[in-house]
Amino acid sequence: MCGIVGYIGTTEARPVLLDGLRRLEYRGYDSAGLAVWDGQKINLAKIKGRVADLAGLLQQQSVKGTVGIAHTRWATHGEPTTANAHPHADCKNNVYVVHNGIVENYKALKDQLIREGHTFHSETDTEILSHLIEKYLTGATTLEQAVSRALKFVKGTYALLAIASSDPEKIVAARLSSPLRIGVSADQVFIASDPSALLNYTSRVVTLTDGELAVITRGNYTITSLEDGGAINREAETIDWNIDEIQKSGFDHFMLKEIFEQPETVINSTRGRLIPAEGRAVLGGLADVEDKLRALKRLTIVACGTASYAGLVGEYMLEEYADLPVEVCVASEFRYRKPSLIPREDAVLVISQSGETADTLAAVREAKAKGVLTLGIVNVIGSTISRETDAGVYNHAGPEISVCSTKVFMSQLTVLALLTLLLGRQRRMSLVTGQRIAAELAALPARMAELLAQADRIKTVAQHCQSAKNFFFCGRKYNYPIALEGALKLKEISYRHAEGLAAGELKHGPLAMVDEHFPVIFICPKDSVYEKNISNIQEVKARRGRVIAIATAGDTDIAAIADDVIYIPKTLEMLTPLLAVVPLQLFAYYIAQSLGVDIDKPRNLAKSVTVE
Ligand code: AGP
Ligand code: GLU
Repeated sequence: MCGIVGYIGTTEARPVLLDGLRRLEYRGYDSAGLAVWDGQKINLAKIKGRVADLAGLLQQQSVKGTVGIAHTRWATHGEPTTANAHPHADCKNNVYVVHNGIVENYKALKDQLIREGHTFHSETDTEILSHLIEKYLTGATTLEQAVSRALKFVKGTYALLAIASSDPEKIVAARLSSPLRIGVSADQVFIASDPSALLNYTSRVVTLTDGELAVITRGNYTITSLEDGGAINREAETIDWNIDEIQKSGFDHFMLKEIFEQPETVINSTRGRLIPAEGRAVLGGLADVEDKLRALKRLTIVACGTASYAGLVGEYMLEEYADLPVEVCVASEFRYRKPSLIPREDAVLVISQSGETADTLAAVREAKAKGVLTLGIVNVIGSTISRETDAGVYNHAGPEISVCSTKVFMSQLTVLALLTLLLGRQRRMSLVTGQRIAAELAALPARMAELLAQADRIKTVAQHCQSAKNFFFCGRKYNYPIALEGALKLKEISYRHAEGLAAGELKHGPLAMVDEHFPVIFICPKDSVYEKNISNIQEVKARRGRVIAIATAGDTDIAAIADDVIYIPKTLEMLTPLLAVVPLQLFAYYIAQSLGVDIDKPRNLAKSVTVE
């Protein structure tokens, strides 16, 4: 939620800040702005709209200087307007702040500051921060002391950067629950919400953790605790993401590029982890807790959105092959229930691409407070969830830029298949079964590439449905979660109404809506529930609904009933979701493309949801 960039160095800050904002725009895109210290004063430029609009504004407005902060917003308090865009200044135009998060007690603080004579120019909660810092920035105090004092009164979440003309040549940063990474390179220091904004300049990255304040100067950074001011020594770590991964490489959208990267994603997520000859998986991040895993009696998987659908597929995999009772709960509900979790018998596994999702992080903390083992499947290295869970597995999917998750979903399914092998072989799974799963998993990238080669055919099928306003996606067993994911993809990027259903539920209500204008997409591979799905397809056809079937290559029977068929290569039932989801991603993509919407940055959404 929202992208933050800061730069202090030897070259002009403006192009570095704009480049960083472009890379972070997927995090929020209501408005954009920056503030740069020119050696005498701070110059501000901000605008409602995209980073491109800010770049346009900067052609008319000169903003020079080598120290600056920038922001692309995802509004929580106040509409997306230029006045509400960050950075926000204090009364004297001395302090400038960019902020990601929510000041929960903003109303009380604002009333108090107004009583004390401060004047506000926006409806945001963020503007409180600049005025509070102003209040404590008296002659003798440094900017970092003022920020630290101000934050003692703030309830809520923040990643913030502040600069001040009365104490220039530094950026002060602080974080609580929203990510911030410092990028270090000789005499330049960068800071951003996400490493993808830093990779153009450096791969040496320091992660700020909750409750920390950093002072960034040319070529240096210091970190202290916000609680007691104690110094914290933290060395930079190397992020091995490739810069090519954050470019579109000739594709029209990041989403399409990321869909086509998926065979590679499966290879990357399994590299060094899958041992087909021995039918087992080695997950280094879980090595220390293997005994605890062996003793588990139940696993609760907690995640949001697409990651929760990966969790649902994991539930079917683990229950069938590892004999482990599994429950999946969306993170925003988990903490409000009273889950009975028993230490040593239960574990909570969270799944998160960003590793920063507020609801999922809250679930980790809830589970830890209950004394149970916490595990993570996380893509972003060094993210908060990866640090706070007891053990975990990185996806190794590389940066995912499109707001709509595709390749990371694929890597989540891959890691869950590996986890099934690991836990299964610890329990009752035979060597032969393990070998079969491992061999099928190893063969999957080539099959996926075959499937991707049919993209044009999927585009044609999507064109047949272009005018439909409503869709059902139906599946059973392993592919029920894929029906949910297919519907989420479509509504997320095309704004068409789509509902994912367990196919057996159709007749319990939803079927009433079906007519000739209502496409129903059935995920219907030749598996143990094939015949049941066929009966449901017949029920839809009897109501003149339009059926698109995702079927196994060679299934000619289904072509006689469905209006359109998209074939996926044959694989083990447990692994069909990894193939079946691909045509659904492309289907959503091509429908959205025909509607001319902004596919990588769907309206009202943001990539990383760091508010509850
Ligand atoms: C996926 O397309 C969505 N944008 C969304 O559901 C996402 O998967 C969810 O917000 C979870 O994010 P996380 O994986 O970063 O925790
Ligand atoms: N709460 C702040 C606002 O609405 C920050 C939102 C964000 O994270 O972009 O302006």
